[in-house]
Amino acid sequence: MTDLPARISLREVGPRDGLQNESPVSTAAKVELVDLLSGTGVRRIEAVSFVSPRAIPQMADADEVWASMARSSGVVYSALVPNLRGAVRALDAGCLDIETVVSASDTHNRANVNRSTAESLDEIAELIAVSHSRGAVCHVTVATAWGCPYEGDVPVSRVVDVARRAVADGADGLSFGDTTGMATPTRVISLIGETRMALPSVPLNLHFHNTRGTALANVLAALQLGVADFDASVGGLGGCPYAPGASGNVASEELVHMVEDMGVETGIDLEALIEVAREAERIVGRELPSQVLRAGPRTRLTPYVPR
Ligand code: COA
Ligand code: ZN
Repeated sequence: MTDLPARISLREVGPRDGLQNESPVSTAAKVELVDLLSGTGVRRIEAVSFVSPRAIPQMADADEVWASMARSSGVVYSALVPNLRGAVRALDAGCLDIETVVSASDTHNRANVNRSTAESLDEIAELIAVSHSRGAVCHVTVATAWGCPYEGDVPVSRVVDVARRAVADGADGLSFGDTTGMATPTRVISLIGETRMALPSVPLNLHFHNTRGTALANVLAALQLGVADFDASVGGLGGCPYAPGASGNVASEELVHMVEDMGVETGIDLEALIEVAREAERIVGRELPSQVLRAGPRTRLTPYVPR
């Protein structure tokens, strides 16, 4: 494993991907979660999404959260937008790091944003141009990149075509989203390989949900191919409202715990992150799935009680 990246960048998506799928929490609690994460060493936080409040009531207060967060120097805060209207809201709020999303599967795209994939791609071209004209960068996530809950497997060629179109329209980076945890390491290797052939120099982030327990295995497969940019959510918060049975992203502390022990730096203080995961449980009022949160880091000692 000598050719693993020396360092990875983790984008914390718990405040957005996580909280959008939990029972609504207060604006103050959302701001608290972002602020606590800002103190862990994480360098990128997807803080909110500017979406229709009818579609995602949990994000109705995005403007307020965005305005109230204490910004730490050295942390980049991004926002997810589903359409041009959302991008303009984000830009007007002062956001300079915009993410947008399109599903490779038409049916999921319709469920998520009420458009065909082709219609979303046309709007994304405009959205990227507007973002650039106002000094922002725009990353495009291709969702259902390893399968769709409605259509099943999505051909790799289809995913790469969507990615190619987004890049041709000016996307500053790509992310592949395993929206419902259908990826396995073999499929990860295959999609990364095809993408590198088609788009050799585009920055690539991967976004895995742990719906079927394969998220860390997928991260490892990608690391071995040199991918060094991953989404994760504190405590394993998260899901997708339009993907039945979806569960959270790979837990940030599980990812940090694993890769740091393999000699891959994250810049994140694991103990501090575990404390934030504990607070995230309090905020959402339920036990979160992270196993590192339960068991602690591998070096945590158990007091020995002689028999
Ligand atoms: N922010 C706030 N409001 C928005 C908006 C945005 N970005 N885009 C549209 N709206 C409002 C419209 O003003 C309209 O409001 P009204 O009914 O009070 O007049 C309403 O939402 C419907 O607008 P329309 O353009 O017809 O949208 P739609 O019903 O076709 O929904 C989306 C399309 C994209 C706005 C909606 O599906 C959405 O926000 N989806 C987000 C899904 C998501 O975040 N999924 C998780 C991430 S993978
Ligand atoms: Zn997600």
